[in-house]
Amino acid sequence: MTVNANSLDAYWMPFTGNRQFKAHPRMIVGADGMYFKTSDGRDLLDGIAGLWCCSAGHNRPRIVEAIRQQVGELDYAPAFQMGHPKQFELANRLTQLIPGDLNKVFFTNSGSESVETALKMAIAYHRARGEGHRTRLIGREKGYHGVNFGGMSVGGMPANRKMFGSLVSGVDHLRHTHGIAENRFSKGLPLHGAERADDLQRLCELHDPSTIAAVIVEPLAGSAGVILPPVGYLKRLREICDQHGILLIFDEVITGFGRLGAPFAVDKFGVEPDMVTTAKALTNGVIPMGAVFVQDKIYDAFMQGPENMVEFFHGYTYSGNPMACAAALGALDTYEEEGLLTRASELSDYWQVALHSLRDLPHVIDLRNMGLIAGIELEPLPGQPTKRAFDAFLKAYEAGLLIRTTGDTIALSPPLIIEKSQIDFIFDTLTNIIKTLD
Ligand SMILES: Cc1ncc(COP(=O)(O)O)c(C=O)c1O
Repeated sequence: MTVNANSLDAYWMPFTGNRQFKAHPRMIVGADGMYFKTSDGRDLLDGIAGLWCCSAGHNRPRIVEAIRQQVGELDYAPAFQMGHPKQFELANRLTQLIPGDLNKVFFTNSGSESVETALKMAIAYHRARGEGHRTRLIGREKGYHGVNFGGMSVGGMPANRKMFGSLVSGVDHLRHTHGIAENRFSKGLPLHGAERADDLQRLCELHDPSTIAAVIVEPLAGSAGVILPPVGYLKRLREICDQHGILLIFDEVITGFGRLGAPFAVDKFGVEPDMVTTAKALTNGVIPMGAVFVQDKIYDAFMQGPENMVEFFHGYTYSGNPMACAAALGALDTYEEEGLLTRASELSDYWQVALHSLRDLPHVIDLRNMGLIAGIELEPLPGQPTKRAFDAFLKAYEAGLLIRTTGDTIALSPPLIIEKSQIDFIFDTLTNIIKTLD
């Protein structure tokens, strides 16, 4: 058999319409700063930081150099029963960055793995302290927590669940916080809907709180179309968890590392969960890596029994991989030197005004924003859900702008190095495109 290296047949692409793509390929061959380079030689403004991960933009010298040096010095070290200095350095740097008691870090290789790790930790934590009856996990409708079985089960996006059987048992879901008519076109946090957190109380009454291990939510949900927490919602969730001894997990895979204008949503919303899952911008998206932050009390609960025994039977071959640690340290240096962990707060007013200039365009039924995130919800084409937004995606690509769509919502999350003129380009381009949509 002859192999055609350029054939598109063999690769099964993730979360992609494979047939559409292979008929009309969109190839990226380079990246620098705010721009991708396409195979037909065009610059594409990155309106979504890769996939919400390249927060410092592309080809950043600190990160490139850190990886180059690391690969020649120590390419791999066994993750179990052995360590290397950069794991400890990175964990120390990270715990300095996050507030409160979240002083321990467990490394993974993706957001999905961070979620699985946190869910397993939650159940094992309760068991370690003699409450092995707390096994139930609570997610939320429209939640996205990656694609592995635990994350998919606590997740609440029907298309991500329906093909995969009965999923993990003992999971229930809070009602989502989207679609509240009175919040349409909110600037920043929606004012109405905090009482939706009381849905946790309902689940406590149904299942009895003594059966519930943890609640996991995205403080701001990205994948289901940029859904912001109503004012007071997260605080209320925290209160109910405290009342019943339930752990609260924030999935900060997209909100971590400056996206909202503060290092973490924990800072932004002033609510401290028991665990925080992260990935993506941890390494600026350059090398796969995730991190789960946990409060001291969780780590401490595991530190019992003979000292030579493994305390938590969980981990990955690539947990704390040397290259990933080097990339993360390079990313943190870049974020800190350039003030990127708070830069979104400096630009968020400008971003908000630019976004809300789209309000009177045809098909636009809602606009949502916080930090350097925006959601533009379009009225679906009758009988063809997602098509109108996907058409916008294709037209934006032709016009030199990379956006992301989920359902009929356009989601934007550019690198945090974006300039005002580039914000103008994004919204001018989208204005022109939305006007031409069917
Ligand atoms: C909130 C959240 N959790 C988990 C994930 C999964 O991360 P990964 O694709 O790295 O597994 C994502 C990815 O977008 C996410 O947005």
